[in-house]
Amino acid sequence: MWLAELRLRDFRNYATLDVALGDGVTLIEGPNAQGKSNLLESVYTVALGRSPRVNADAEVVRFGQDRAYVRAAVRGARPQLLEIAIDRASGEKRMRVNGVAVQRGQLLGRLAVVLAGPADDEVIRGAPASRRRVLDAALSQVSPSYYFTLTRYLRVVRQRNHLLRRAAPGPALAPWDDQLVELGAALVERRRRFVEALARPARERHARISGGDEVMDVAYLCSAGEGGEREAIGRALAARRAEELRRGASLVGPHRDDLRLSVNGADLRAFGSRGQQHTAALSLRLAEAELLREELGEWPVLLLDDVMADLDPSRQALLLREIAGPQVLLTHTGRPAGSARMRVLSIRAGALLEDLGARP
Ligand SMILES: Nc1ncnc2c1ncn2[C@@H]1O[C@H](COP(=O)(O)OP(=O)(O)OP(=O)(O)O)[C@@H](O)[C@H]1O
Ligand SMILES: [Mg+2]
Repeated sequence: MWLAELRLRDFRNYATLDVALGDGVTLIEGPNAQGKSNLLESVYTVALGRSPRVNADAEVVRFGQDRAYVRAAVRGARPQLLEIAIDRASGEKRMRVNGVAVQRGQLLGRLAVVLAGPADDEVIRGAPASRRRVLDAALSQVSPSYYFTLTRYLRVVRQRNHLLRRAAPGPALAPWDDQLVELGAALVERRRRFVEALARPARERHARISGGDEVMDVAYLCSAGEGGEREAIGRALAARRAEELRRGASLVGPHRDDLRLSVNGADLRAFGSRGQQHTAALSLRLAEAELLREELGEWPVLLLDDVMADLDPSRQALLLREIAGPQVLLTHTGRPAGSARMRVLSIRAGALLEDLGARP
């Protein structure tokens, strides 16, 4: 699938933008702070029903304005029109598909996207939550049932935590334990399969971009330990009951799981060089795109924000070879090696240079 037309109104530093896009690689170029990343953020926001930056939804409304609006015309096997409007004061979001109001769960997957960029530093080096978000965002786009199970599961965890903080919750916990095991096991099982499938393409991409002498690996780390998901979570819950009561929090389940990313056997978070971390993050995202394509039968749109910046010209050229296939929106502060034949959008202060030039 690909994004054929994008319309922005009062989104970040864009007052108004209307742009038609091609289905190949488009270079979005311009000096710092012109709106290149904001453009990719708008595509992510209309595709996933929220900004990729955590808790930033109301921040996307242009300074001094009340409401941001994004509209995306999607082409591919299922052409459709997606819209999102975000109200600054209330933070309320309204989403529509082909003119009909929908909930977030009904929006997901209609414009599948994979975003790679500076925020991935957090995926590699940050807390486990940022790595879980990679899996949850990808799987929610692949399957509505994953998203609904996740939403229900997180509600169960909140309710259960509430109970755990009460004095002597006793037998009242049992039904919540059952639900945590049931829903949690379904999520872990799906995530595990995804991560197992991710490992090979991630390793291959990493080897190609790094020149072949590094072996990357990805593994799912389950807070409940090994074993059948249901049994492992049930057992771990029983074992940690006293600690859970003491701390007033659910300590086992997919909301506590993690991904282990390593190169040549060493944990990237602790031991990776910046270049290794950068290449691994990019390889992980490219592998994610490949899996989404397998699951959805169509390429997702690749949003590559500033990923060229840390690469030397030969790695830039290698990367451009890696991204043949999907529609790619690629930001850069200039023209990277190998970009001669790309469509170029020049962005200056929240506008297309060609629009600025056309103004009287
Ligand atoms: N809600 C908002 N309203 C208006 N302007 C905003 C808003 N949020 C961010 N901006 C402006 O957007 C600009 C940054 O845009 P963006 O991050 O897209 O830059 P960029 O072109 O990607 O630059 P770089 O090359 O440095 O990554 C900043 O000048 C910032 O002040
Ligand atoms: Mg940027």
